Amino acid sequence: PRKIIIDTDPGQDDAVAILLALASPEDIELLGLTCVAGNVPLALTSKNARIVCELAGKPHVRVFAGCDRPLGRDLVTAEHVHGKTGLDGPDLPDPAMPLQDQHAVDFIIDTLRDHPSGTVTLCPLGPLTNIATAFEKAPDIVPRVQEIVLMGGAYFEVGNITPTAEFNIYVDPQAADIVFKSGAPITVMPLDVTHKALVTPERNAAFRRLGTPVGIAVAQMTDFFERFDKEKYGSAGAPLHDPCVTAYLIRPDLFSGRVINVEIETGSDLTLGMTVADWWRVSGRDPNALFMGNIDADGFFTLLTERLARL
Ligand code: BDR
Ligand code: CA
Repeated sequence: PRKIIIDTDPGQDDAVAILLALASPEDIELLGLTCVAGNVPLALTSKNARIVCELAGKPHVRVFAGCDRPLGRDLVTAEHVHGKTGLDGPDLPDPAMPLQDQHAVDFIIDTLRDHPSGTVTLCPLGPLTNIATAFEKAPDIVPRVQEIVLMGGAYFEVGNITPTAEFNIYVDPQAADIVFKSGAPITVMPLDVTHKALVTPERNAAFRRLGTPVGIAVAQMTDFFERFDKEKYGSAGAPLHDPCVTAYLIRPDLFSGRVINVEIETGSDLTLGMTVADWWRVSGRDPNALFMGNIDADGFFTLLTERLARL
């Protein structure tokens, strides 16, 4: 199994991404969950991450709190999508499992130093603040990263928080810029992919039919979270953005994309946080990311439903 750290701001779709990882021990060894401010403030994301572990019956997962604000600007949150708690929908109990004392950034640094180089993958599902802070504090860890597989950005789909920016990149463009310039191998799941991973009524019914606390909670999370995308985009259901990251670790063949150059807009008010993705390779700039463009959505939902059934 691949050793990973999930860096996250749960978020209903983050929750499903975490559940998929926890359901897949033959493919994924989760070393820890590091939380960041994003969809909701840090106190809630670090609480929600523990709620999700307990829902999965995995209270021994180590959960760390990290940065409570972006590097250079005020925090922008997304309660309009995820609700006041960040995990609105199901009625889940407060967690009994503890938050670890260590700061998430130090956990990331120590883990990359303690494991053989090239054996730990970082999976950011929120703003890139924790990852960029770790890279700035300990540049020696950057070449030790096996791969960064992240959800963020967009090309054809352009933006979901501003006309040109995707939420995770928009919240902390400075952090995203550091990560995309770091030289670590990066695989990106942009809105172009995640807006194709839609929970249609049939797919949601399949979650509910599992009849387990996990299946029912995932269906209830989706019921809540879909209203934003249905109203905004007229889409057929909620896009499962973040689970594309953990699904990729299990079934990379479900995704396709291009190795291209991606730069982050950090200066313009108008297009702040835009991922300037050179899809047609017109810039002459060196490629720095595998930028995905397509997903086998049926294969993805089959995998997800089968794995969630195990929890
Ligand atoms: C991303 O933003 C968050 O609201 C979701 O959890 C996802 O990580 C989608 O733009
Ligand atoms: Ca997220």
